[in-house]
Amino acid sequence: MAPDPLVRLQTVSKIFPGGIVGLDAVDLDIISGEFITLLGPSGCGKTTSLRVIAGFESPSSGKVLLDGRDITALRPFDRPVNTVFQDYALFPHMNVAENVGFGLSLRKLSGAEQAKRTGDALDMVGLADKLRARVSELSGGQRQRVALARAIVCEPRVLLLDEPLSALDAHLREQMQVELKRLQSRLGTTFVMVTHDQTEALSISDRIVVMNKGRIEQIAPPATLYDRPATKFVASFIGTMNLLQSRFVGRDGERLRFTAGTLPLEAISETGQSPGEGEVRTIGVRPEDLLAMTEAVPGTAPARVDSIVFHGRTLRLHAELEQGAPVVIDAPRQAEGFQFSAGDVAHIRLRRGANCPVLPS
Ligand SMILES: Nc1ncnc2c1ncn2[C@@H]1O[C@H](COP(=O)(O)OP(=O)(O)OP(=O)(O)O)[C@@H](O)[C@H]1O
Ligand SMILES: [Mg+2]
Repeated sequence: MAPDPLVRLQTVSKIFPGGIVGLDAVDLDIISGEFITLLGPSGCGKTTSLRVIAGFESPSSGKVLLDGRDITALRPFDRPVNTVFQDYALFPHMNVAENVGFGLSLRKLSGAEQAKRTGDALDMVGLADKLRARVSELSGGQRQRVALARAIVCEPRVLLLDEPLSALDAHLREQMQVELKRLQSRLGTTFVMVTHDQTEALSISDRIVVMNKGRIEQIAPPATLYDRPATKFVASFIGTMNLLQSRFVGRDGERLRFTAGTLPLEAISETGQSPGEGEVRTIGVRPEDLLAMTEAVPGTAPARVDSIVFHGRTLRLHAELEQGAPVVIDAPRQAEGFQFSAGDVAHIRLRRGANCPVLPS
């Protein structure tokens, strides 16, 4: 049985003035101690979800539960929840320790206790030596850490992070992702993060919630989301996915055989059922699951190469199958005999063992 959730959104809708739909009947269970990420395009309702959990926004309908208790009407400061905002919102006239200790100073704690907790929180984010520094003297990454320390110092049950790393450059961002994940494991606190960066979501989360137009499309661990997307939206939002209209031609045990034009494809039946002979389905094929060869052999289909894009470790071929379907193929740069240029015909086939999802129409 699934553990009882720490936070539950129960059919939560949020309609803003003018009838703008922020959230549309969202059901979400957040498990204690997990790192869960809300991912989706701009305007899909990520920030609204966080604000509803924090209590800054009240749902138009539905409930927010914490430990099974209805907290929908509870004010933000009465919830064991803390938020790290996108712009950090640090107090510029206070030093680092004062910023971090601010939340504690509102509570009835002794000065010594406040100083200890502030020191511990700053230690946790690697800024113990910056206690007296002015916020204006800090780098972007250091400010981010101060904001984190300030949020964890009050020991919230749930920490909400709205695009916490978006202001950082790519290198620092990657470093902070690792630190954020490590911090979360050490604290054991439930983290709910918002991002629209799918790479970030995949690398940091225990589970990802993919949102679209105020609704949840799928909730799953990163690898499941990548390998078994439940909808076309998820398939195309997480990484790159070729969506190939394919005809069912038969099955070998678990494996369903399809052809996209002349390209043979294989998929695993999720339900154990197969489509009828000749029925058309959308098959999702990852670019890394296609191989491009110079010679035609049984099992390959010709595709005209339109362009080749340099991706560092791989080269990405944009090509077109005979029936006109566009197809993207990732080829390792060092691949032996790789010698395509735009205008060439590549012979492509599915990598053996590739496990393509059948997507709902
Ligand atoms: N206070 C508000 N008044 C009116 N509409 C709002 C308000 N806040 C959000 N919305 C609308 O609700 C929808 C969801 O907004 P939300 O801020 O949750 O999106 P988001 O997923 O966080 O997007 P982004 O990635 O751009 O931050 C959008 O259409 C937005 O315009
Ligand atoms: Mg937002």
